[in-house]
Amino acid sequence: MTTRVWAVVPAAGRGTRFGGPVPKQYLLAAGEPLLAHTLEALLSHPGVAGVMVVIAENDADWPGWNALAGKPVVTCSGGDTRAASVLAGLQALPESVRADDFVLVHDAARPNLPPGDLARLLEVGRADPVGAILAAPVRDTLKRAGDDGGIDRTEPRERLWRALTPQLFRRHQLTRALLDAAAAGVAVTDEAMAMERQGARPLLVEGDERNFKVTTPADLARFEFELSRRDG
Ligand code: CTP
Ligand code: MG
Repeated sequence: MTTRVWAVVPAAGRGTRFGGPVPKQYLLAAGEPLLAHTLEALLSHPGVAGVMVVIAENDADWPGWNALAGKPVVTCSGGDTRAASVLAGLQALPESVRADDFVLVHDAARPNLPPGDLARLLEVGRADPVGAILAAPVRDTLKRAGDDGGIDRTEPRERLWRALTPQLFRRHQLTRALLDAAAAGVAVTDEAMAMERQGARPLLVEGDERNFKVTTPADLARFEFELSRRDG
C-alpha cells in the first residue's frame, strides 16, 4: 500500500506561440477545455489524490472547478516563468503533503497523457530515491548549426531523450532545487534540470510520443484527431 500523490499543474502561461486572445489551456477540444482533459488524465489514476492548478493572476478564463473526478482541485497564482509557477504550486500544496512525499508536475498543455505511462512513471519513480520523468528517445538526425546557418556537424543522437511530463520528485527536494536554481539565476526548463544541478540523477521512463505539448494550432488539431481515435 503506497500513499497517494498530489499533482502540480502549471497553467499560468499565455500561449504566445499559439496566439489568439484565449490562452491555449482554455481552448475547447470535444467540447471541453484542454485543461479539463489534462486534469482528468491525471485524476483518473487511483494513486493521484488531488491537483494544484497554478493559474495566472486575474485569470478570467479559469472555470472555477473545486473538484473533478471526485478529487480536490485547488489553485494558486503562478509566476513569470514555468519554473516560478511550479515553485509557487509546490509551496501552496496542502499541509497533508509531507516534505518527502512524491509530487507529479505535469504541463497543462499536455492533454493526451496515456494512463499506462502515468502508471509506469509512478511505479518506477516511487521506487527510486530521487524520482523519474517521462521521456521519448530522439528519432531525427541532429545537426549543429554554425553562425552562417550552415551545418557544422551531425550530432550523435544515441542516448538523447526529449523530456516530457509528468515528472515525479519529492516535494521538499524539488522545492529546494527550484529555489537554488532561481537564486543562481539559472533558467531551468524542466524539474529534472533543477534536480540535476543538485547532483541528482533522475530516471528516464520511456513514454508515448502522443503525450505531446500543445504549442501551435496544428497541435490542437492533432489532439482532436487523437480524441476522435480514442472514442471511435
Ligand atoms: N506556464 C506557467 N507559467 C508560466 C509559463 C508557462 O504555468 N509563466 C505553463 C503553461 O501554462 C504550460 C506549461 O507551463 O502549461 C508549458 O509552457 P508552454 O507550453 O511554453 O506554454 P506557454 O508559456 O503558455 O506558451 P508560450 O511559450 O508559447 O507563450
Ligand atoms: Mg512558454
